[in-house]
Amino acid sequence: MEGPTVTVDLAALRHNLGVLRARLQPGVRLLAALKADAYGHGASVLAPALERAGADAFGVATAAEALALRACGVTRPILLFTPLRQHLAELVDARVELTVADRSDLAAIEAAAPAAPARVHVKLDSGMGRLGGPPEEALALVTAVERSRHARLEALWTHLARADEPDVSLADGFTARQLDRFEAALAAVRAAGVEIRSAHAANSAACLWLPRAHYDMVRPGLALYGHHANPAAEALMPPGIPALRPVATLQAPVIFVKRAVRGSPVSYGATYRAPRDTVIATVQLGYADGYPRAAGNRAHALVHGQRVNVVGRVCMDQLMLDVGSLADSVTVGDAVTFLGPDGPSIADLAARLGTVSYELLTHLSAPRLAREYVGGEARERAA
Ligand SMILES: Cc1ncc(COP(=O)(O)O)c(C=O)c1O
Repeated sequence: MEGPTVTVDLAALRHNLGVLRARLQPGVRLLAALKADAYGHGASVLAPALERAGADAFGVATAAEALALRACGVTRPILLFTPLRQHLAELVDARVELTVADRSDLAAIEAAAPAAPARVHVKLDSGMGRLGGPPEEALALVTAVERSRHARLEALWTHLARADEPDVSLADGFTARQLDRFEAALAAVRAAGVEIRSAHAANSAACLWLPRAHYDMVRPGLALYGHHANPAAEALMPPGIPALRPVATLQAPVIFVKRAVRGSPVSYGATYRAPRDTVIATVQLGYADGYPRAAGNRAHALVHGQRVNVVGRVCMDQLMLDVGSLADSVTVGDAVTFLGPDGPSIADLAARLGTVSYELLTHLSAPRLAREYVGGEARERAA
């Protein structure tokens, strides 16, 4: 390997899609959340692969992300999760479906006067506290959309704040209350005679364990990439769900090896001192490659299948490992695994650093990281 590399396993991606699909009743559509460059995995490759594997729709967060999916040949529906004020006519032209969270979002669409009516998903805030109007006011907003000649109502939707905590959700009813509010809004709108073609709420966690939230479409992200938002919740999932397979592996090469006597300092601030005579390996991976600086003295990696510690501060371009336990077997050019199915898990690293797998995955978009795709079907390999 020439430098730090992310290997993306498309077979694992298809496996995870199958695991999620198996949780759904027939006819429920699956929208794959591909925002933030497919959580760092590379949307331009994953979107066509997921489309071929049967994903029904895609979700993104920015206009650029939506248009990039069309540019790489995606034909299925694309939903922009975020209400936007710019590029609206262009987005509608590209058949991107828009989120409307309040009247001003609708006004922006009307001002843009797209050539064809925008397909609109009306967003309700049932408890996330981020975007959307109160479910009690859904009818007014939906009616305004229905009356607009520049918009066509496609769906009502909401986002769950605590679906990844089945224990809390079940014990104090937080998620059930969100769904109660959402369903009351759906019922009120339908009672007023408005046809709601689609309703959606479920992220990965709800997709896996909460059938009530599936409605006619689900929106998983993290589970497609092989991870649970809350690994502790895995034990609370219904039995028999096959294990998800991590899609990304992060590896980097050793570029220098040296002996260090007991007490030798390592890296900026000399925060690590060799506790005994040892061997220190320097690896070409730093925080400019997306590996968090906070991992210094806290994380581990795998060399020759053996666990070794990341020692001293992570630098911009390199980090150091104490490989004394591997005798003299480590040499320049050896591949070190920092994340992946056969290495440290992203959930473990996230827990050590006080963050979440989502944040660490998005770091895989660092431009210096090389990306390799494996496990593609024949036509993907040929592409
Ligand atoms: C609106 C929306 N839907 C779905 C998802 C997918 O969530 P997850 O990655 O937990 O499955 C996200 C991601 O945070 C989101 O913002």
